[in-house]
Amino acid sequence: MTYNLNNLCKTAADAMQNAYAPYSGYKVGAALLCADGSVYTGCNIENASYSATNCAERTAFFKAVSEGKYNFIAIAVCGGKGGVIEDSPFPPCGICRQVMREFCNADFKIHMVTKNDIKTYTLDELLPYGFGPEHIK
Ligand code: THU
Repeated sequence: MTYNLNNLCKTAADAMQNAYAPYSGYKVGAALLCADGSVYTGCNIENASYSATNCAERTAFFKAVSEGKYNFIAIAVCGGKGGVIEDSPFPPCGICRQVMREFCNADFKIHMVTKNDIKTYTLDELLPYGFGPEHIK
């Protein structure tokens, strides 16, 4: 599927501004492209308990899945202190990679938006030999 990468990254940057990050100060935004062309956004939502914090990527996935979407093409992610996109990528944490592994194919694209650049990896590159649904069938 072809898609407008710059638009997806801009959507992630806009979503970043909604982040609730009073503890770390790091705002993160995500834009998740579904196979039907729809896009779900997410931001990080922190919590005073710290451990109940939800990352931007998982917010986007859970919003999409909760609306019946199960087929995904790509996600754009950006983050930075105070909502200013960093020079270096803001890579998805291990828990988010595991959530991606549940729903996405090995060639699912992860676009990390930096100040001047977009770094792209597949899920298989970021989570090689991961544990997935097929292992408990
Ligand atoms: N964060 C994300 O939103 N996504 C990630 O994949 C890494 C970390 C958030 C969680 C927390 O609110 C802040 O970034 C600092 O860790």
